[in-house]
Amino acid sequence: MATEQRLRWDELFAARTRAGGGEGVIQILALAGAKDVIALAGGIPDPQTFPGPVLAEILGELMEAGDASPLQYAPTEGLPGPRDFVAGRLERLEERRPTDGELLLTSGGIEALELVGKAFVDRDDVVLAEAPTYLGALMAFQSFEAEIVGVPLDDDGLQVDELERLLANGLRPKLLYTIPDYQNPAGVSLAPERRRALVELARRHGFLVVEDVAYRDLAYGDAPPPTLWAQGHDVVVQIGTFSKTFCPGVRLGWAVGPDEVVAKLRWAKQNTDQCAAALGQRLLEEYGRRGLLDEQVVRSRELYRPRRDAMLEAFERELGGRASWTRPDGGFFSWLDLPRGLEAVAFAGQALEAGVAVVPGPPFYIDGGGGHQIRLSFSRATEEEIDEGVRLLAGLLA
Ligand SMILES: Cc1ncc(COP(=O)(O)O)c(C=O)c1O
Repeated sequence: MATEQRLRWDELFAARTRAGGGEGVIQILALAGAKDVIALAGGIPDPQTFPGPVLAEILGELMEAGDASPLQYAPTEGLPGPRDFVAGRLERLEERRPTDGELLLTSGGIEALELVGKAFVDRDDVVLAEAPTYLGALMAFQSFEAEIVGVPLDDDGLQVDELERLLANGLRPKLLYTIPDYQNPAGVSLAPERRRALVELARRHGFLVVEDVAYRDLAYGDAPPPTLWAQGHDVVVQIGTFSKTFCPGVRLGWAVGPDEVVAKLRWAKQNTDQCAAALGQRLLEEYGRRGLLDEQVVRSRELYRPRRDAMLEAFERELGGRASWTRPDGGFFSWLDLPRGLEAVAFAGQALEAGVAVVPGPPFYIDGGGGHQIRLSFSRATEEEIDEGVRLLAGLLA
């Protein structure tokens, strides 16, 4: 009997799948999702913010009304009602209503990033991103074989003077990806004067700015400075998500930017999923038009703000003088520099054994940085758990 030849998948996989430490990341994130530990790892919303009973009611109403649109395919750019709701919300928050051609509803922020990659990035094109940055964005741009170049961050966000230096030295990026508000993973925000300077650089050097506003609604103090899109409609695509304030289960987000660019994103979307799920679009629209999204944003801020405070107070109490960390004005994360000599991946492993899940720094860098840094999230743990978690981490440093 002939022995079956085992297929060598490695010879068949596309080159782009070799990029990055995918498996390592998956393993780290799987550890981070471990049960029965204090959850300071995942950047996910607390389920108590999810509007289950209200959505059951809205769903019932939609079905009883006999309207087929929530169950049908939708136009690629989104259903008219939900588009009108999102455009109206942007008009209120950004003081400018996007024109029809400037807005696309997407299946979450991550899909919008994938569409940008597909529409802009050829192999070896230079894409700039903060170092560190959101892992999902790195993976999206890597999958189009971009050459990703990191631009360092400090407490005021992306170092725009460093970017200027890179550009003056001849770097020619197609686009720059940035998270100006309560950054993932660093928790820092881009200073107002840097926002203006960044938009000017994009105009002068001819590249697209991709602004990810995933955490912008979750401000725990003053409102954040104006968005990049508000200051640069001609050079900025803003990507947003309803995952952090409504629920990730509907997979809904938006891209808003120059109409020529959004037309290409719409083109790219036709052969990813063709349209964001109509059911989620209609649920969001009904929920939002009743004022419930605005109310939930207020409640979410009230839920997460004391958790942020608890984490910063616990850091001060337990780690003062031994480590340093960022002080986020919103969002889900603080970013901690471990004392000298401690290695982040090993430390995260020990922390897990001690009963606390944190994410080590390396996956957030393209170039293997982050070896002495960890990300801590305060979105899923209670104040008591945060106290206890930081106490356990401090014990490991002793
Ligand atoms: C900065 C940033 N952008 C985008 C996303 C993904 O959002 P979505 O759930 O809409 O795909 C996340 C989720 O963690 C994020 O942190």
